Amino acid sequence: MLVSAKDMLEKARDGKYAVGQFNINNLEWTKAVLQTAEELKSPVILGVSEGAGKYMTGYKTVAAMVKAMIEELKITVPVALHLDHGSYDGCYKCMEAGFSSIMFDGSHYPIAENVEKTTELVKVCGEKGLSIEAEVGSIGGEEDGVVGMGECADPGECKQVADLGVTMLAAGIGNIHGKYPENWAGLSFDTLAAIKDQVGDMPLVLHGGTGIPEDQIKKAISLGVAKINVNTECQLSFADATRKYIEAGKDLEGKGFDPRKLLAPGTEAIKATVKEKMELFGSVGKA
Ligand code: G3H
Ligand code: ZN
Repeated sequence: MLVSAKDMLEKARDGKYAVGQFNINNLEWTKAVLQTAEELKSPVILGVSEGAGKYMTGYKTVAAMVKAMIEELKITVPVALHLDHGSYDGCYKCMEAGFSSIMFDGSHYPIAENVEKTTELVKVCGEKGLSIEAEVGSIGGEEDGVVGMGECADPGECKQVADLGVTMLAAGIGNIHGKYPENWAGLSFDTLAAIKDQVGDMPLVLHGGTGIPEDQIKKAISLGVAKINVNTECQLSFADATRKYIEAGKDLEGKGFDPRKLLAPGTEAIKATVKEKMELFGSVGKA
């Protein structure tokens, strides 16, 4: 069922595990994530970047596809449909289209403007029963045109934004979108602990979940992270499995060029990645 992310994240915070947000790009992606969540009895968040929303022809198409798929695949676990790194206008479009959760990424605004816009959106989401994620500091690297410098969040600013009544807070702690460079210094646990100190019970969000070593994921969860976003890793798994299929010439054998066959190995690879992450995050059996 399609729900706000509030309950699932509060349960995750209290149970010391994290719910995965897996970004979707098309029908195969959505089906793979939903089926894996159901199979593992895990709550799940489907993330939609503005770029992916556009690619799938628009937020209304995405919402209609997700709702119909939940019904026809008989998905019983809690599913949140969440705008990822949304602009102010994008947030309103997703609310109108029927998303159950939004992220307003005001991290590139001066803090006063981030606070002002987040305040307004918190009010509207509250009226509609939707969950809302805000961001302070920035996530390094680039995702679908969203570029961040990667500066760690200021714990005082985190408190300022958390106090607005957001459902969850994303804070830059040295995390990066995409693959981590060899010389990456790792997550800043001092920053995370200082933020946790300021924001208390607020469920924290860790972006850039691709390639973070297991021990760092577990430590982050122990310090209040209740949602972890994964995007690139599913894309890499999909591309790798698809490449192997084509390089083995399987697209040329029989009806191997049929898109239902051609896309199957990549879809299975997404499922395997989602399963691995749900097991690592501890959300299996928590639906
Ligand atoms: O917002 C989505 C993410 O933060 C995903 O990051 O592509 O590095 O896994 P990633
Ligand atoms: Zn992100």
